[in-house]
Amino acid sequence: MLLALEARPGTVELVAGRPTASLGYNGPILGPTIRVRRGDSVRIAVRNGLSEDTTVHWHGLHVPAAMDGGPHQAIRAGETWRPEFVVDQEAATLWYHPHLFEKTAEQAYRGLGGLFVVDDEVSDRLPLPRSYGLDDIPVILQDRRIGQDGQLRYGPAMPDVMHGYPGNVLLANGAIEPVLRVPASVVRLRLLNGSSSSVYRLTLSEGLRMHQVASDGGYLERPVELEAVVLSPGERAEVLVDLRGRPAASPLSLEAELFQGGRLRALSIVASRPAATAVSIPAALAPIARIDASAAERVRSFVLSTMGPGGQLTINGRHADMHRVDERVRLGATEIWEVSNRGMGMMQVPHSFHMHNVQFQVLSLNGAPPPATLSGRKDTVLLWPGDAVRLIVAFEDYTGVYMYHCHLLEHEDFGMMGQFEVEGPGLAQSAHGGPPATPARIP
Ligand code: C2O
Ligand code: CU
Ligand code: CU
Repeated sequence: MLLALEARPGTVELVAGRPTASLGYNGPILGPTIRVRRGDSVRIAVRNGLSEDTTVHWHGLHVPAAMDGGPHQAIRAGETWRPEFVVDQEAATLWYHPHLFEKTAEQAYRGLGGLFVVDDEVSDRLPLPRSYGLDDIPVILQDRRIGQDGQLRYGPAMPDVMHGYPGNVLLANGAIEPVLRVPASVVRLRLLNGSSSSVYRLTLSEGLRMHQVASDGGYLERPVELEAVVLSPGERAEVLVDLRGRPAASPLSLEAELFQGGRLRALSIVASRPAATAVSIPAALAPIARIDASAAERVRSFVLSTMGPGGQLTINGRHADMHRVDERVRLGATEIWEVSNRGMGMMQVPHSFHMHNVQFQVLSLNGAPPPATLSGRKDTVLLWPGDAVRLIVAFEDYTGVYMYHCHLLEHEDFGMMGQFEVEGPGLAQSAHGGPPATPARIP
């Protein structure tokens, strides 16, 4: 499969009569949903049509380090990067976005991002809505600040870096409060929190419940009925909404409460036509192969902290450094990664922990078994102040340097990021501790 993406500037009319300068892939804002099957060989030509460096990272995908699109794979203006990889993971809603060192947030803010959906035999077999755009709807949620002139305003001051940079509008798929017309049946929403730094508590009007069927890395074992879906930046949830019997005259709305305060409407949902198929909410989904915790050969600890010297954002007291590998992991190893969010006083802010290359499983949250919504494969996990999670991770297939970081993008850009290197047998540790000097940059 050969795909082409081009990051380029564009213009969208978010507010009528006031065109907004934006960035997008192959269009003015966001990008096409990339859809692949497990087992596919994928080649992508990623052209940088911007006037500055960028990268495109495949968030949630298990790919070789040189194909990951993290800060090591910068693409210069006018150049094309050509990653290739074989998709080998469960059906899931993943995504892609820029990931330039210390500059991820702004390019994403201006519109760069898109979904990356993987299908497999399980998704073929499950009786879930699957007509893309009809009853299986991508919903990319991003609060943004828009000025009177219709332009996006991105310029967080230091307190915003710490506490988040909430917007005055909430974009759903790059539009303000769009109306979604769907059949009066069970519909699937593939929710992505694509914001910079806002944790969303998502609810439907009338207190209507949602049934979560998948988290970051794919299906849960059974649907989880929820009044609210809490997503931190980068996290995904696939939910079913039961609109059977709902008249077109009573629209629903999906709303987001931001952790900093405030509530914004994402979109309205109108059951505008009769159901074409009879889909119900299944009792069970797919078993999850559990990573065996007793096989863990070591435990590592990660302290996310905002109390370092000068109120810095650090992991284990350190600032991100591209020339330092923080953790060396053996290829084939299973490990427990313990992550905690420690801050003091005014520095008590939420953080998250995202790992490239892997889907981990949550063993415990604050010493207790994780809630059902965290019981599946995850690549990003939210930590409120004081929280501690134990993750079980298996490092398989690929060696090389990958990132881990807080996915609140201002925190990431201001240093809350580290690197792990997966080392194969016989690979000598590099003397200077630096990452391999071969970024996959192809002119
Ligand atoms: Cu969504 Cu390191 O990224
Ligand atoms: Cu990622
Ligand atoms: Cu953070």
